[in-house]
Amino acid sequence: MKLEVIILAAGQGTRMKSSLPKVLHQLAGRSLLEHVIATSLSLQPVAVHVVIGHGAELVQQELADFPVNWVFQHEQLGTGHGVLQAVPALAPDSTVLVLYGDVPLVGVETLAALVAAAAAGPALLTARVADPTGYGRILRDSTGALVGVVEHKDATDEQRRISEINTGLLAAPAGDLMDYLPQVGNNNKQGEYYLPDILSLAVARGRTVASCQAASEIEVLGVNDRVQLNQLEREYQRRQAEALMREGVAVADINRLDIRGTLSCGRDVSIDVNVVFEGRVSLGDGVVIGPNCVLQDVTVAAGATIHAMSHLQEARIGERCSVGPFARLRPGTVLAEGARVGNFVETKKADIGVGSKVNHLSYIGDCVMGDHVNVGAGTITCNYDGVNKHKTEIGSGVFVGSNSTLVAPLQIAEQGFIAAGSTITRGVEAGELAVSRSRQRNIQGWQRPGKPRTED
Ligand code: UD1
Ligand code: MG
Repeated sequence: MKLEVIILAAGQGTRMKSSLPKVLHQLAGRSLLEHVIATSLSLQPVAVHVVIGHGAELVQQELADFPVNWVFQHEQLGTGHGVLQAVPALAPDSTVLVLYGDVPLVGVETLAALVAAAAAGPALLTARVADPTGYGRILRDSTGALVGVVEHKDATDEQRRISEINTGLLAAPAGDLMDYLPQVGNNNKQGEYYLPDILSLAVARGRTVASCQAASEIEVLGVNDRVQLNQLEREYQRRQAEALMREGVAVADINRLDIRGTLSCGRDVSIDVNVVFEGRVSLGDGVVIGPNCVLQDVTVAAGATIHAMSHLQEARIGERCSVGPFARLRPGTVLAEGARVGNFVETKKADIGVGSKVNHLSYIGDCVMGDHVNVGAGTITCNYDGVNKHKTEIGSGVFVGSNSTLVAPLQIAEQGFIAAGSTITRGVEAGELAVSRSRQRNIQGWQRPGKPRTED
């Protein structure tokens, strides 16, 4: 069967009270529309048509990487009118799945079942909810067959008591959309062209309308305001944390872990509270992540520990390394096995060799460091001359005394030794001691300056 997907995403989302189009608001680090497009693509359709209107340019720009066909709906005259804009792009022999750009968590299995139910005619995804207020209600005849949908605003009191609702998601043969949509009128309370009206038109022609129930309510929840967005976010995060625990990860608090991207974990990984993972993060066996850490696009090899309050971005951490507490690892940081980066240390484009230590209060940028180097507290690589960035190369076994200033471009060969408090501007050969600081003078009998003491 040939599948095409239409995603309705032209609405403004007034209740978000935001200048950003609703479908661009983020859930777990991805826009609502991106969730829906990604789910659609996993059904392997021949085409995905996205109907856009409000903020169309921005929406297209933000999702430019996705293989979708953009369809413009200049005026939002209703869901039926929205789908109609995409109809000319459909192949007549396709089955068409209609999704909403603001219903982000609908599952692939639910959609596959809906598509399967639409082989011979329209099929609707319905749900039973505790409070159906605002939704379209499902109308059935005495045999239980679906005969139509009535919008809340058009419904009688009796109809409003129906708890089975229209999720809005439906599937139908393309031919049915081509037949019925042009016949849908807007003679209703909202003056809109309602998509579900195709169902009663089909029934009037003696066709049967199938229906499927969503596996869970969360799948069909739409986002209308920031409260609902947050409810979905928390539910989504809770599910991810639960899945990790089932895979053997020790999560300190299911409610205090946010994964905004993908996280893969080895065995016996432990994650403390208030940790945020962004982009692609991978944690090897036995990795420990302390509380209040942020890791974005980071690989951490087995046995490494990231201590509390550390912020890591585009970094690779080797086996048994120790990072933090309070470390900031910026893009291009690579720590080899057993390296240690301690508190109040910032690194950027820094290759730090096996067992090397930068334990306190340092800035190491544009630097290649060999193995077993010891960098004393307060060491700074001066990588920027105001115009260009320059590199610092530090050989294996080098000792950099505390409070050293290493002015790049600079090479310190193996086993070099930098005396504490030095400003190093010239290369240091293997095994040399470099001292660059004024000699200490001690003055005997020196008188401290002092004010005469006054009585008060
Ligand atoms: C719709 C359904 C209702 C269902 C509910 C589920 C209709 C007439 N009603 O109502 O039965 O219970 O969803 O949430 O279909 N959109 C466009 N272009 C338009 C109008 C809407 O792209 O011209 C998009 C919106 O951006 C949104 C989606 O379609 O993503 C649904 O539109 P909305 O106005 O929220 O429909 P509801 O009134 O909630
Ligand atoms: Mg709605």
